[in-house]
Amino acid sequence: MSVSSFSLTSFFLLTLLLLLLHHLTAEPTHDKQQLLSFISKLPHASRIQWNVSSSVCTWTGVTCDSTNSSVIHLRLPASGLVGTIPPNTIGKLSQLRVLSLRSNRLSGELPPDFSNLIFLRSLYLQNNLFTGEFPATVTQLTRLARLDLSGNNFSGSISSSIINLTQLVGLLLQNNEFSGELPNMNQESLISVNISNNKLNGSIPMSLSRFPVSAFAGNINLCGKPLPPCKQNVSHPPIPAPSLFEPPPLRKNSKKLSTGAIIAIAIGSTLIISLLLLLILLRLRRNRKQQISKSPKPPVPATVASRGVTETGTGTSSSKQELNGGLMNGDKNKLVFVTSGVYSFDLEDLLKASAEVLGKGSAGTSYKAVLEDGTTVVVKRLKDVTVTKNEFETHMEILGKINCENVVPVRAFYYSKDERLLVTDFMAAGSLSAVLHGSRGSGRTPLDWDHRVRIAISAAKGVAYLHVAMNVVHGNIKSSNILLQEATGTGASVSDYGLNPLLGGSTLPNHRLSGYRAPEVLETRKVTFKSDVYSFGVVLLELLTGKSPTQTSLGEEGLDLPHWVQSIVREEWTAEVFDVELMPYTNIEEEMVQLLQIAMACVSTVPDQRPAMQEVVRMIEEVSRVETDDGLRKSSDDPSTGSDRHTTLTETQDSPHSVTR
Ligand SMILES: *[C@@H]1O[C@H](CO)[C@@H](O)[C@H](O)[C@H]1NC(C)=O
Ligand SMILES: *[C@@H]1O[C@H](CO)[C@@H](O)[C@H](O)[C@H]1NC(C)=O
Ligand SMILES: *[C@@H]1O[C@H](CO)[C@@H](O)[C@H](O)[C@H]1NC(C)=O
Ligand SMILES: *[C@@H]1O[C@H](CO)[C@@H](O)[C@H](O)[C@H]1NC(C)=O
Ligand SMILES: *[C@@H]1O[C@H](CO)[C@@H](O)[C@H](O)[C@H]1NC(C)=O
Ligand SMILES: *[C@@H]1O[C@H](CO)[C@@H](O)[C@H](O)[C@H]1NC(C)=O
Ligand SMILES: *[C@@H]1O[C@H](CO)[C@@H](O)[C@H](O)[C@H]1NC(C)=O
Repeated sequence: MSVSSFSLTSFFLLTLLLLLLHHLTAEPTHDKQQLLSFISKLPHASRIQWNVSSSVCTWTGVTCDSTNSSVIHLRLPASGLVGTIPPNTIGKLSQLRVLSLRSNRLSGELPPDFSNLIFLRSLYLQNNLFTGEFPATVTQLTRLARLDLSGNNFSGSISSSIINLTQLVGLLLQNNEFSGELPNMNQESLISVNISNNKLNGSIPMSLSRFPVSAFAGNINLCGKPLPPCKQNVSHPPIPAPSLFEPPPLRKNSKKLSTGAIIAIAIGSTLIISLLLLLILLRLRRNRKQQISKSPKPPVPATVASRGVTETGTGTSSSKQELNGGLMNGDKNKLVFVTSGVYSFDLEDLLKASAEVLGKGSAGTSYKAVLEDGTTVVVKRLKDVTVTKNEFETHMEILGKINCENVVPVRAFYYSKDERLLVTDFMAAGSLSAVLHGSRGSGRTPLDWDHRVRIAISAAKGVAYLHVAMNVVHGNIKSSNILLQEATGTGASVSDYGLNPLLGGSTLPNHRLSGYRAPEVLETRKVTFKSDVYSFGVVLLELLTGKSPTQTSLGEEGLDLPHWVQSIVREEWTAEVFDVELMPYTNIEEEMVQLLQIAMACVSTVPDQRPAMQEVVRMIEEVSRVETDDGLRKSSDDPSTGSDRHTTLTETQDSPHSVTR
């Protein structure tokens, strides 16, 4: 029995091994045949020189998956291809994700077997001579995210089946001969749409009214938002003139501060903050001295500190003795530990610690404190606490129950009339903000894509835990409050959460808090689960774009990242948006677009349209699951990938402009 099961297992393992070996050495011969057949049947310029005796995966314009078992990208832009696409060639590359045949002289209709390309995410056919109706096969490719048919000679109505493309991000149909009315496209995923310069009439569906005028200009008789409203009866239909309705260019040219200026500002603010810290600590010390020498009867001690010991040692000359005496006496302003057994220091130790400013936030300033015994903690000095000591303690008790690896635990607090301190763990690996934006271009190792996705998932889990398990609104999500865990591969934890109930509403600044604050918070002055989702969406955009919403080069309010992304995506197609540090990585375009979609859903202006945090977790996990399941990931240091990625970007950048250029 056991022997047979053993041999069965080993047989199975052996088969698996053989399969793997086969994969390692094999190349997609079937796909190679299709490509050879394609190129032999289609007249083309001599630019395409595929060497039959070398692996198809090395051919220009061809990308295979990580196991070399199928062709997943085919990009032959401006390759001098002429004529109709022969059937039973490209349509048989069943694993294809990206197909670009733009800027050739391809004509006729798409072969029906394109409907086999069920995994296709991006289809670029712009600037060819295709004719005929809107290709019906395309509407069966339900995973399609980007469809560019612009600059062809397609005619007839835009198929209403297009609503079946539920994952569509970009739809570019401009400069064709499409006529009739627009189908009621209601895909919320759409970020970029252009149907200008066709022969369309009728009203623009509500769902598309968020796109700019130039996306609809140059048609016969389109009406309704964003164009002028439809009239019941018009004898002379107004033809929208593109020049009249063209909105001002949306793209902002961000100016950059010189490195010198940045350093000067950094040094300046560090100095000021350090001085401030010194003053605070001095004042704390003096307060304590006064309290100890003044109080003949200690008031009711705090919960943990309650001892009921009588007072001794007041008025001693050494401040150390005084403080020790005060603590031994169960002083009311004791450092209260909410999680026991982790640290064993007291206020005195904390005051003697060397401190360094970590950051200044809306809730207060954080310091890194290194105690004499080497213990390092973060001390946050809260400003504008408006609740009573009891309320403060109750709230701390709640935060003390938090137990999640993606949430930085609160360890202790201190509450006195003048000072409220919060002690949390110190995370040596630093914040996402520092890793993402710190010393860019100085030859440091950029944060790679896998790591970014892992950080996104773990931080999302942390926030979802706060929401679901603790019923706590984070209230202050930003990249500097997402701290990386030291062990690589473990992701990140969120910090600085749940403080808003302690602070007066007045601490919510009336500006956009450097771009993380949801728009409705400005009015309601209340943070909610949904406003957390918005802020998290901005962090996702930050991970994708490498841009910081707090970069204040444009003024005091920082960069409105959601708006910036929207405007760029609208104008330039998506690729322009992504962080240049991600460019060396191949085959992540699809994932980046998926994450971008999630981010855009999170930063929706209407709170109810934002997904719940646990839903966000699920969706991001989906992105990374797809990547591993499909084995799409290629080694990031594959030398051939740099130029590959470049092709990808050219592809996407060119699309909206190639007609006008
Ligand atoms: C896939 O093919 C390329 C080009 O022939 C080769 O460099 C690479 O090592 C192959 N990868 C695998 C996993 O076989
Ligand atoms: C085609 O590839 C084979 C093997 O990789 C090589 O020996 C041959 O020189 C190549 N031919 C051309 C024209 O590059
Ligand atoms: C586009 O197609 C129409 C017929 O549908 C034809 O008359 C016209 O010449 C074509 N234009 C181009 C540029 O091929
Ligand atoms: C969408 O797809 C479904 C299933 O593939 C099909 O039954 C339906 O007719 C399609 N809708 C349209 C409008 O084509
Ligand atoms: C749009 O034009 C077509 C003919 O091209 C016509 O049949 C239809 O009634 C028009 N629709 C509207 C709303 O004007
Ligand atoms: C749509 O395409 C037209 C023609 O290429 C262009 O002028 C216009 O700016 C584009 N509009 C948008 C919103 O992309
Ligand atoms: C609308 O058009 C119909 C016939 O086309 C006409 O009878 C009616 O008077 C028109 N109404 C207005 C308000 O112009």
